[in-house]
Amino acid sequence: MSSTIHVNGKATTVDVDAATPLLWVIREHLQLTGTKFGCGIAACGACTVHVDGEAVRSCVTPVSAVAGKKVTTIEGLSPDGNHKLQQAWIAEQVPQCGYCQSGQIMQAATLLARTKNPSREEIVRHMDGNICRCGTYQRIVKAIQRAAKEA
Ligand code: FES
Ligand code: FES
Repeated sequence: MSSTIHVNGKATTVDVDAATPLLWVIREHLQLTGTKFGCGIAACGACTVHVDGEAVRSCVTPVSAVAGKKVTTIEGLSPDGNHKLQQAWIAEQVPQCGYCQSGQIMQAATLLARTKNPSREEIVRHMDGNICRCGTYQRIVKAIQRAAKEA
């Protein structure tokens, strides 16, 4: 069947089964490969995107669930890749291999959208489910704190 989805401000019609994970559509059909496949079972956060402003795990979200909703991927977080979190990530040199980082930034963005000046505890709690195999957690917290200050 064909589904029309709205990703990064653009409507696109894709011909896929309704149960196809949003992650597949984003990566394979739209060729937006910034969103990563990690575990496929909602356990790592590498595939995090925003649906109507909420962080969701696109590996377990069927494409049918986002009909009529606004999907944002890392490519659409800021028109020029210059979101305050992206700037802070560069300033703090957060990534190691980089694989988890799009998901980390998308997860962090929903915290800053709601909480202007989060405490360290709030940051740690909010980021708790996003796994980084390289262990960049301390730099992730610092970058979020930096971005919060610059908001
Ligand atoms: S790939 Fe979706 S949570 Fe791991
Ligand atoms: S930077 Fe390598 S998994 Fe996070």
